[in-house]
Amino acid sequence: MPILRSAFIALSRNQPLRHFSERSALGRRLSSRFVAGMEIDDALRAAQALHDQGIASTLDSLGENVTTPEQARRSADIYHRLLDAIAARKLNANVSLKLTQMGMDLDPALASEIVSGLVDHAVAANNFIRIDMEGTDYTQATLDLTQSLHAQPANRGHVGVVIQAYLYRSAQDIADLTASGIRIRLCKGAYKEPPSLAFPQKSEVDANYIRLTQTLLASGIYHGIATHDPAMIDAAKHFAHESSIPKTSFEFQMLYGIRRDLQRALVAEGYNLRVYTPFGSEWYPYFMRRLAERPANVLFLAKSLLKS
Ligand code: FDA
Repeated sequence: MPILRSAFIALSRNQPLRHFSERSALGRRLSSRFVAGMEIDDALRAAQALHDQGIASTLDSLGENVTTPEQARRSADIYHRLLDAIAARKLNANVSLKLTQMGMDLDPALASEIVSGLVDHAVAANNFIRIDMEGTDYTQATLDLTQSLHAQPANRGHVGVVIQAYLYRSAQDIADLTASGIRIRLCKGAYKEPPSLAFPQKSEVDANYIRLTQTLLASGIYHGIATHDPAMIDAAKHFAHESSIPKTSFEFQMLYGIRRDLQRALVAEGYNLRVYTPFGSEWYPYFMRRLAERPANVLFLAKSLLKS
C-alpha cells in the first residue's frame, strides 16, 4: 500500500498527465466523484445543498503552485467573489486556500499581500479564511503568515490554519498556535514526507492524531477535527464526552464525496460538520491525492465507468 500511495503522489506532480487529464471529458467525469464542479455556481449549489442538510462547508477553488503573479491575483479574485456570494446567500460556509495558489513560490510578499486582502474581506463579511497546509517546504512560512495576520486585532478569529498529525513538529506548532488563540484544522497529512520529518507508520500517525485531538479539544478554541477515520472520530467523541466538552465547541470536517454515510451519522448525533468542497478546472493534483489515500478508489471509479 505505501508503494501505491507514493506512486499516486508522484503522479499528482506529473505535468503532462495533468495537462491531458484536466482537458479530457473522461477526466472531468472521473473527477466529479470528489470535485463539486468546474464553476463557482457549482460550488455554491453544493454548499446550498449541504446547508439545507444542516452541514457547513468550506469552499476551495482548486489550484496550487501558480507560476505568474497574474494567476495568483486571478485565484484571489475567485475567493473575493466567493466571500460575496456566501454573504449574499447567507450560507453557512467559509473558504480554504493554498499559499502556493496565491503566489508563494514567486514572491512570499505577494502571497502575504494577497491573503491579507482576503482576510480583510472576510473580516468585513464576518467570515473566515482557512489556510490549507501543503508540503513541508511551506510549513514554517504558512505558520508565520497565519500568526502575523492573526496578530492584527481586527483579524482575530477570522483566519486559521491546518496542522498535519504525521509531522513530528505538530505538537509544538499546536502549542504555539493555541497560545495565540488561532483556530486549527487537524488532518493526518496528504503529502509525501521523509521519515526525518514525518512518522512513517500509519499506527504512529493515528496515535499522534488522537493525542493532538485531545490537546485541541481541551484548548477552549473552536477547532476542526478533519478525518474520515472512524477510530479517530470515536476517540474525539469519547474524549469530549469524558471531559464534559460540549459537542458544539468543535466541528468534524470531511471531504466532499467521501464517507457520506459517516457525515450524515455525525449530523444526526448532533455534532457540527463541515464539508471541504473543492471546485474548478485545476482538479488533477487534488484528485490524485485522494487516490493516494485510498488506492481502492481506482477500482471504484473503474466500476462506476463500466456501469454508466
Ligand atoms: P485514513 O487515510 O486513515 O482513512 C480512514 C478511512 O477514511 C478509510 O479507511 C476510508 O474509509 C476513508 N477514506 C479516507 N480517504 C479516502 C478517500 N480518498 N476516498 C475514500 N475514502 C477515504 N491534508 C493536508 O495535507 N493539508 C490540508 O490542508 C488538508 N485539508 C483537509 C481538509 C479536510 C476537511 C479533510 C477531511 C482532509 C484534509 N487533508 C489535508 C487530507 C488529510 O491529510 C488526509 O490525507 C485525508 O483526510 C485521509 O485521511 P483520514 O484522516 O481520512 O484517514
